[in-house]
Amino acid sequence: MCKATLITGATRGIGRELARQLQAAGFNLFITGRNPQLVASLKQELGCAGTAADLADPEAVVSLFATARQALGRIDVLVNNAGFNKGKDPLEKVTAEDLDASYAVNVRAVILLSREALKDMAPRRSGHIVNVISSIARTKMENYSVYSTMKYALHGFTGCLAKEARQVGVKVTGVYPGGVDTTFRPNARPDYMRPESAARMIVQCITAPEDVVVHELVYRPIIETNF
Ligand SMILES: NC(=O)c1ccc[n+]([C@@H]2O[C@H](COP(=O)([O-])OP(=O)(O)OC[C@H]3O[C@@H](n4cnc5c(N)ncnc54)[C@H](OP(=O)(O)O)[C@@H]3O)[C@@H](O)[C@H]2O)c1
Repeated sequence: MCKATLITGATRGIGRELARQLQAAGFNLFITGRNPQLVASLKQELGCAGTAADLADPEAVVSLFATARQALGRIDVLVNNAGFNKGKDPLEKVTAEDLDASYAVNVRAVILLSREALKDMAPRRSGHIVNVISSIARTKMENYSVYSTMKYALHGFTGCLAKEARQVGVKVTGVYPGGVDTTFRPNARPDYMRPESAARMIVQCITAPEDVVVHELVYRPIIETNF
């Protein structure tokens, strides 16, 4: 399987494990993250292409896609995995800057990369766009309003994208993991899913039979009850 694949947020957590597993499965990768040292070390480990980019900058997002496309020749699979949550804050502490920063990475960058990918994939009538959302977009939680708002927005966008993309033969998957023990939060959570496990579920969507599209993948650690 030699699919040209762009993975965002590949420098840590779920994305890093996903890159390792897709590389082992024979995918041709272009990896990205914000931290240049982490990008360089993953490129060296996997022998793949990649570059550092800050997805908060919309021009950097569009040029990232062009760079990846040029490096790989085409993009068959786009995994929009990068995302962050500043932390738990009651609404009275939420600022306009918090909202803008979260929107830029968790929503806008995904929409822009999906747009660029769809333009590339549509003429070939094949391809797959995978958006890593969160099980937070299937529930509600106090002190999580900014991150939840963005992930609900991404849930809505991904549904619209799936309808548009199917018309041109492109698959779209929304991924809704529950808690994963990554650098996403300051404290270790050994009771959450291991990033390797969370990534393995995404690999299963990407490697599903050609005649199958997984529209939504919702999964959690066994300890979570928010379903
Ligand atoms: N962990 C969980 O419990 C959980 C649950 C549900 C959904 N998710 C979602 O899963 C995805 C991956 O999360 P994770 O747990 O693997 O988090 P993580 O360990 O914190 O990794 C986040 C990745 O996103 C990248 N990133 C963040 N801001 C960026 C920016 N401005 N520009 C470019 N890259 C940026 C980081 O790059 P650098 O390190 O290079 O900055 C890093 O590679 C996220 O979308 C998250 O919302 C996580």
